This record gives sequence, C-alpha cells and structure tokens, in this order.
Amino acid sequence: MFKHFISASQFTSSEMLEKFFEQVRHTETACNSIHGVLPTARGKVMASWYAEPSTRTRISHETAWLKMGGSVTSTADASSMSSVVKGESWTDSIKTLSELVDIIVARTPREGDAANAATVSKVPFINAGDGCGEHPTQALLDVYTIWKHFGSANNLSVGLVGDLKYSRTVHSLLMLLGLYENITYHLVGPERLMINPGEYIKRPGVHFRVHRTIDDLVDIGPDIIYMTRNQQERHAVMDYYHHKWHHLNGKQVERLPKRAIVMHPLPKKMEISPEVDKDPRAVYWQQVKNGLFVRMTLIRILLEEKTCD
Ligand code: NCD
Repeated sequence: MFKHFISASQFTSSEMLEKFFEQVRHTETACNSIHGVLPTARGKVMASWYAEPSTRTRISHETAWLKMGGSVTSTADASSMSSVVKGESWTDSIKTLSELVDIIVARTPREGDAANAATVSKVPFINAGDGCGEHPTQALLDVYTIWKHFGSANNLSVGLVGDLKYSRTVHSLLMLLGLYENITYHLVGPERLMINPGEYIKRPGVHFRVHRTIDDLVDIGPDIIYMTRNQQERHAVMDYYHHKWHHLNGKQVERLPKRAIVMHPLPKKMEISPEVDKDPRAVYWQQVKNGLFVRMTLIRILLEEKTCD
C-alpha cells in the first residue's frame, strides 16, 4: 500500500479506507481469539522516538508492536536526551535510526518533519504527530471508530469543537472523513482558532457551517461531536477555557440523538464534564482501544510492503 505513513492524504478514496478497516476488523477478531495474531514483528526492533509528550500514541504503537512479537527501543524525551541537544539534524538522526532498527515511529514539534524523515529513512516511518501538522494514525482510529459505530461513514453531520487551527488530529480527520459522501462539518471555536476545511479536503461536495456555541451545535442534533483541547503549548490564547462555548456537559449530551457519539483524541481537560464519561455516547475510551488494532494492522502492512521491495 505504502512504505511510510506520513499523512492521512495517502488514503485517496473511501474504498481504500474500507479495505483497510476490513483488515483492522480481522486484527481485532484475531486479538480477541485464543490464537492471537501472527508474530509478524518477531526478531525485529521498533525505534519509538518522542520529542513531544505522549501517553496514548507512544504506548499504543509500542503495545501494537510487542503484541506482534517485536522489541522496542524507546526515547520518550528525545527533545532533551537525544543528539538533537548536541545539534544533530533531524534527517541525520533518522538516517542513524534507520541503520539500526526495522521501523521508526516518531513525534516531533515541527510540521513537515515526518515528510522529511520519509525522504531519508531506509525503514518504514510512521508519523506519530508532527507539530500542528498531522496525526494520521489518530485519524485512522477515529474513522475506524465511526465506521464501526455507524456501519459506514457516509451521510454524517460532524461537529468539530475547540482549537481547530492547532489540533493536528482535526487536520488528519478532515482529510479522511472528507473521502466519504455527504459529510457536513459543523465547526465551533473562536475566530482566532478557526480553520477552513477546504484547505484539507480536496474533493468537492463537503459542506461546512460555523456555529458560535456548543448549544447551537447540540440543537442541530449532530451524529458526532469531536472535542479537542486547547493546544496551549502552540499558541498564546490564554482565556480559552473561560468561554462557555467550549464546554460540553451531561445535559447537552442528553439532548443528543441516541445514536450520536462524543469523541475526543485525548488528553481531555475542562472541555468535557466528567459526567459525560458515563454516557454510552462517549466513545473516547473505545477510540483508544481501536487504536491498538489500527496500528497493528498498519504496521503489518508497512512491514509486508518493505519485504516486497
Ligand atoms: C493528540 C495529539 O498529541 O495530537 N493526542 C493524541 O495523540 N491522542 C491530541 C492533543 O494533544 O490534544
């Protein structure tokens, strides 16, 4: 399918995504059976390189790899503990890693780093988030969660709430969901943090509307509310959480249609009231679980592709 996974735009049609999701479902079934999955990564090593904080993405990729029989070498604080501190260039670091390991998963603070890594890496490279650019594996697990819940991802109204400008998960999600038919995006956020979905979606026929508050969004009864946190490390919009528009509470969730879902890439902060966690419409823990199967499947595909080279 592809040698590296850098951008959600590498998926070019909903059919391509659906084929991938069928394989993810197969992985999920295998994981839940007594036979488990094939040890595709046995004898192989993953370099897990994080120059930005991570809980889910790092542990998820590493667990995916370990479950497939591989070993991991992990740098969870690459911004302070790697040769980057000595002034080594990003591409030299990647060249070094790719002489040593069989696959690299990396998160960096700069948009474009993942694409540059792919130009020099001899082994598969997975983008685990490049600054405020993209987070394509998160988008895959998000859309897999949507696909499983609704049985398809066509004809959905999708509320995107929060720091849309700096949330890389949103950028990748727009690209993937934009491959489906009849998607309407409903954007909620302050003007300074707003985006133009057209920048991320290349095909015509995707509709979007901007709303002032979450209440306005809840009133239209969307299928999905995708919440994001303020990316405070990337900009200086300090008064963000004082605005009511960005807070989803239990009462609002009760007003949503029964089949609706509330999503969040996590970590969440004050944007979702704790009582929402107990509502069956909150699927963010399912997203985490699905991420494991998505990443196991992606890794297997990348390894197979490499073998074919
Ligand atoms: C996101 C990220 O790091 O981009 N988290 C994640 O990987 N699941 C979202 C965020 O940090 O807000």
